[in-house]
Amino acid sequence: MWWRDAVVYQVYLRSFADSDGDGVGDLDGLRTRLDYLVELGVDGIWLNPCYPSPGADHGYDVADYMDVDTRYGGLPAFDRLLADAHARGLKVFMDLVPNHCSVEHPWFQAALAGDRPARERFIFRPGRGDEPPNNWRSVFGGSAWTRVGDEWYLHSFDPGQPDFNWRNPEVGAYFEDVLRFWFDRGVDGFRIDVVHMLFKHADLPDWPHHPEYNILAQNQPEVHEVLRRWRKLADARERTLVGEIWVPTVGDLALYLRPDELQQAFYFDLLVCPWDASRFRASIDRGLEEIVSTGAVITWTLANHDVHRTVSRFGLVSRTGGPDTRPRGVVDVELGVRRARAAMMLVLALPGSVYLYQGEEAGLPEVMDLPDEARQDPTWFRSGRTEHGRDGCRVPLPWTPTGPSFGFSPSARTWLPQPDWFGAFAIEDQTARPGSTWSLHRDALGMRPGFDGPLEWLPTGRQDVLAFRRGEMICVTVFGDEPYPVEWGTPVLASADVRAGAVAPASSAWFRG
Ligand code: NOJ
Repeated sequence: MWWRDAVVYQVYLRSFADSDGDGVGDLDGLRTRLDYLVELGVDGIWLNPCYPSPGADHGYDVADYMDVDTRYGGLPAFDRLLADAHARGLKVFMDLVPNHCSVEHPWFQAALAGDRPARERFIFRPGRGDEPPNNWRSVFGGSAWTRVGDEWYLHSFDPGQPDFNWRNPEVGAYFEDVLRFWFDRGVDGFRIDVVHMLFKHADLPDWPHHPEYNILAQNQPEVHEVLRRWRKLADARERTLVGEIWVPTVGDLALYLRPDELQQAFYFDLLVCPWDASRFRASIDRGLEEIVSTGAVITWTLANHDVHRTVSRFGLVSRTGGPDTRPRGVVDVELGVRRARAAMMLVLALPGSVYLYQGEEAGLPEVMDLPDEARQDPTWFRSGRTEHGRDGCRVPLPWTPTGPSFGFSPSARTWLPQPDWFGAFAIEDQTARPGSTWSLHRDALGMRPGFDGPLEWLPTGRQDVLAFRRGEMICVTVFGDEPYPVEWGTPVLASADVRAGAVAPASSAWFRG
């Protein structure tokens, strides 16, 4: 089962590479870079949604689940991409968005026109006087309800993303058709958006506590039945399903990874883990105890298109605000790059699968200071322009150190502005340079198969140093400021120089022995 230890590269398509000069990345742009991904050494890609969409949440508002947006090149470009990726041995995962669609989806258009059976596919309810049916909040801020005439519809995210009613069997049947459509086209699997949110409490009661984690709006037991049906569809074709699931405990997450449910689910714990050895150790142990012990695998990740880039999270030296996944404050970029390199080597040595987010391989920092007028994330608008949101990790990639749009597009246009300092992180510059963050990723991916078998922690005698063995390979990570002398074999790769047998501060090293 290839996915059990696969490294998958997340492509945020509109920011990866633009072929036609409109300033928005597209499928032909990605296709011309497939050899780059092969050289990096990943096993496959996960494409963020590329279906036709009006773009209220950059593609997570789907107007047609069985087509590809013409801005990305349409279905012909998708088929070209799939063929070329497969010819290179790369797997291709799409993004399935089953909790909600776009207001432009024909079903919702029919619902708006007053068609009752169409309304039953969504969650329409009468209000309480002039107030919404309940007090639920949208994840992006504000009420989770929008009024149309005498009724209100539920949207857990933007009003442009009406939630489906998963208690209506028509919805389930529709998504099975969607899965078959793409599987028949050759797609290798799906990353599934907010799996835990499909079902809400049947009575939609008020949530009496802090809005942050409304358990009435998610993690209902009925979702597991849907996943069992999807798993059958996937297994019949040897395809893979990886879930985006935010639930309170690792034990809850493990339930979605039972043998007849999803093969994978992101382990998000490290996305909110500060640069601290004991926190990393506790998080890894939790995963090993509650997921690996059940026979399932952990799907590690340090970054994605919803959180601050790793360099800026780990390089934060004083915090002024923002949620844990997107903390704001003063960032020491040099320190952040050092720590991000070390964290990457640690994660790549762990048992399980790893997802990398585009730009991570170049040590790209978050763009914290986008001009307010450039911001596009609905979070920014729905928080009354207080929560910056996710645009800063979605700025189009710098491929070259100079030139219009740093090689992202043949034109100077980019859908989000790139800062002047982006050129210093240019990917093509780094591919030619030994010791660059890119080269470190390539080397680590090449050596990673040497880590084999269960993890055995090694005593280090220091609280700020973690070390473990898997097979004949050892990974040592120094979180603190003092070098750590090691006598465990031959160093084979290091995120900073191993001098006189000592692993440098804020670095990782791999040893064979
Ligand atoms: C999770 C996705 O990762 C995020 O980008 C999106 O805004 C929400 N789900 C809603 O689809």
